[in-house]
Amino acid sequence: MFKGKKITAGIAGGIAAYKAAEVVSWLKQQGADISVAMTKNAAEFITPLSMKTLSGRPVAMDIMDTSSDWHVPHVDLADCDLLLLLPATANLLAKAAHGLGDDLLSATILASNAPVLCAPAMHTNMYNNPATQENIRILQQRGWSFIEPGWGRLACGALGQGRLADVEQIKERIRDSLQEGPLKGKRILLTAGPTHEYIDPVRFLGNRSSGKMGYAMAEAARAAGAEVLLISGPSSLPDPAGVRVHRVVSAQEMYDAVWKEYEDCDIVIMAAAVADYRPAHVEPNKIKKSGEQSLQLVRTRDILASLGEHKGSHFLVGFAAETNDLLAYAQDKLERKNLDMIIANDVSQAGAGFDGDTNILSVLYRQDGSLLRQDYPLQSKKEVSRQLMALIARQLENA
Ligand code: PMT
Repeated sequence: MFKGKKITAGIAGGIAAYKAAEVVSWLKQQGADISVAMTKNAAEFITPLSMKTLSGRPVAMDIMDTSSDWHVPHVDLADCDLLLLLPATANLLAKAAHGLGDDLLSATILASNAPVLCAPAMHTNMYNNPATQENIRILQQRGWSFIEPGWGRLACGALGQGRLADVEQIKERIRDSLQEGPLKGKRILLTAGPTHEYIDPVRFLGNRSSGKMGYAMAEAARAAGAEVLLISGPSSLPDPAGVRVHRVVSAQEMYDAVWKEYEDCDIVIMAAAVADYRPAHVEPNKIKKSGEQSLQLVRTRDILASLGEHKGSHFLVGFAAETNDLLAYAQDKLERKNLDMIIANDVSQAGAGFDGDTNILSVLYRQDGSLLRQDYPLQSKKEVSRQLMALIARQLENA
């Protein structure tokens, strides 16, 4: 997989720079043609000599340097199969998002058409700063892949998110980036977010779904090579990069949108929290206060169950959001809705379910006539989505 692959590792100035040494050494051992570009600040944390020894090539630091291997350093380094940024600082992300090229590494980024795999590492406040988050969003929209920083003790002693991801995780993501996505050629329809069932022009019945889980799944499906259509209920999240998005409001609109696309897709994943009931009548004008009110509700159509009745060769994945008897209810939904897989989500647990950035999941699926279970402990919705896509791809291969 690595033989003949040109990888440029860009190292920015952060304490995590020393971890780049292990990754560069590993890439060299795997047979990759690895070049290193360092910022001057990175060289304060790890010496260019170390990186030269590990990569087996001169290390580029200066955009004007024509003394070594490079003809035009930033252009030569930009010409690669993968641009790996490890670690990426808040400053590097800001420069890349806004097109600055005032040193070798940022100019290399500007000059490159290669896929970018970026592992940020910085203090929690810098990572959470709206400017940094906006820069990450911009770069994601341009197709960059990010390896989320981990939680834990930071260099300053504080606890929080910002540590460079584990080296093993980084290696796995590099492998994923260099091989063809396991879902290439598959068309995936995903749903996300809540539905809003209007009572009158200003009030609706809804739920706490933010769309984060479904949007993370859409990004992971795209990164795994699939063609993705996301049918989203009301959510303030921006459209994921490279994903076709169709926004709807009510359960009925979601039903219609899903059915319109069903024939043309291979996999359906329903992460949306679809209302089970809607008001029997929608008042055309705002309801005025006048003593007691009661609301008559009628059932919405169960989208997933209706798909299960016409399953054909589709691979159907449901979610089950429960507060008790998680696995029993999830298994019941798997069977009743005729699904291939159900992702059980105990929404009563801290760190799981609605709105947050993390989740805790158990997946039930059928294989060779047996019911199997795979647990996913507390982790970010983005990371667990990546793992779920790998599981779905494996199941499709086995089918
Ligand atoms: O969006 P977030 O804030 O990130 O929160 C994520 C989540 C908690 C919403 C998500 O992880 C989740 O659990 N989604 C499913 C929520 C849900 O509605 O579960 P359910 O057990 O009520 O429904 C079972 C399955 O049937 C779901 O796949 C649902 O999409 C589907 N369904 C339900 C009702 C209906 N009328 N039509 C359906 O297709």
